[in-house]
Amino acid sequence: MCAVNRFERTLVTSALPYANGYIHLGHIAGAYLPADIYVRYKRLRGEKVLYIGGSDEHGVPITLSALKEGVAPRDIVDRYHESNTEAFARLGISYDLYGRTSWALHYDTTQDFFRRLDAGGFIHQQEMELWYSERSDRFLPDRYVKGTCPRCGYEDANGDECENCGAQYTANELVEPRANIPGDSSKPILRKSKHWFLDLPAFQERLKEWLDSHTEWRTNVRGIAYGWVNELRPRCITRDTDWGVPIPLDEPGTKGKRIYVWFDAPIGYVSNTRQWSIDAAGDDHLYGDWWKDPGTRLIHFIGKDNVPFHAIIFPAMLMGQGDYILPDNVVGNEYLNVFNRQTGKAEKGSKSRGNMISVRWALDHFEPDVLRYYLCAIAPEAKDASFDWDDFMNRYNGELCDVVGNFVHRSLTMIQKNFEAAVPAPGTFDAEDETMLWIIPSQVDAIAEALENFRFRQAIERFIDLGRKANVYFDAKQPWVTRKTDRERTATTLFVCCQVVKALCHSMAPFLPDGARKLAAILGLEIPVGGPAGGRDWWSEASVRFEPGWPLQSPQVLFPKLDPDRIAELAELHARGEAS
Ligand code: 2FM
Ligand code: ZN
Repeated sequence: MCAVNRFERTLVTSALPYANGYIHLGHIAGAYLPADIYVRYKRLRGEKVLYIGGSDEHGVPITLSALKEGVAPRDIVDRYHESNTEAFARLGISYDLYGRTSWALHYDTTQDFFRRLDAGGFIHQQEMELWYSERSDRFLPDRYVKGTCPRCGYEDANGDECENCGAQYTANELVEPRANIPGDSSKPILRKSKHWFLDLPAFQERLKEWLDSHTEWRTNVRGIAYGWVNELRPRCITRDTDWGVPIPLDEPGTKGKRIYVWFDAPIGYVSNTRQWSIDAAGDDHLYGDWWKDPGTRLIHFIGKDNVPFHAIIFPAMLMGQGDYILPDNVVGNEYLNVFNRQTGKAEKGSKSRGNMISVRWALDHFEPDVLRYYLCAIAPEAKDASFDWDDFMNRYNGELCDVVGNFVHRSLTMIQKNFEAAVPAPGTFDAEDETMLWIIPSQVDAIAEALENFRFRQAIERFIDLGRKANVYFDAKQPWVTRKTDRERTATTLFVCCQVVKALCHSMAPFLPDGARKLAAILGLEIPVGGPAGGRDWWSEASVRFEPGWPLQSPQVLFPKLDPDRIAELAELHARGEAS
């Protein structure tokens, strides 16, 4: 059996995606699908779990998109918030609340965080030199300025960090700077400006101690977090922009400045929990249970580029509040690349290459379970993975359809035809029956163990493995032969098969909600797929046997196969940049 959860409730978050583009499959494989599988599993166990997400609506990516399109930032965030909310829902990402950082409640929560950190002495003001465009008469924060990286020579580096080598530097180190605004690529000058800084070094000892207590975290996350904790510097938490949360100080120096997006974004988890509480209870009193009670287990699911913010900066901000809990785990994923058939190499998904596959495009061509299966099977947990059309079809067809779908279908069809559509009454079990009956709970436990430890690839492999073992059993027992000669033997075999089908139904629910729903309807089970289980442990009931005589509905194909010609067509569209 897997470890008992010592927490009363689990709060799960997925990184808030910027509302300046369509969510794509790379996002899903990293921060969203694993979180969704995890919360669905927890709900099925009857545990108290809350899943919070939302759009990240501030920051330079948004204002730059607005400038490029010649519209207001508000138009950009409204468009993508709506579209991404819909894409997540269609894919079955089962948020309890998917909120927005442009909500007034979020402004209020962020300003409260700022004030409390300020009151605690963790925020100070400092003068710094920043790039300024005389042509546009404005400062150039973050990606508003580009240039050559002083460390690696990359020519498209941002003002204070390089996406290519990860280096961080001060503005005056950037080589050959140029403004990066539509219509302005002039050479900027350095100009002084006062900004507010979060005193990260003040939290160093506590952060170290806390990280030391989490040896169970993924190696990649720990590596990045330790790299940061030893090099902490005060961090600028304001920017020269008019798009963002206003600085809650009554000082002239705040004019033309806003709180930095990376300060307010993670607070979105808190403000969206407050909103959820208001929706659920009429006021926000419930959110305190989820954010301040040590009985809550907080888990962040993110991509690896977000690790420093979730494992260092946001925890420091929470520590500075005084009464907030800290994350118990930060599940950081590597990247999902895209396999390029022409070059035979995996390449990074990028907007400019147009090689990303948006969720909305993918869902116009595939059932959610098809995508969920493949993205979980190749989840980029310990290293990067890549989306490859042939592999996608072969794995889905060869594993989910041929192994699980086929086993379920042949078992149920045979019962339908030979045992009046009800679970047959078994005779005496032989050693093979006993072994198969023993494999069911042990395999279900193995899946649970993998899920508890955030090993989603392993979990789905173990799920398929249950189907594989069941097919081996079915082939060994040959019910299609014995049905002509030995009815009792056939009944026993199919009784055992029914128990496997039931376990498959319960255990597929977190991964493949549509398949689980269809199968549950055939089996007459009321499994609450994705919804709250009201304290009942439906996961454990995977191994509770069907009684003989339990009625079954006609089988139907759970997972229709993908057609190679269609896949080739879609791969072609993707190669032409039409999938984003
Ligand atoms: O990397 C991103 O897309 C960020 N918008 C993630 C923010 S996560 C959190 F802090 F809100
Ligand atoms: Zn660099």
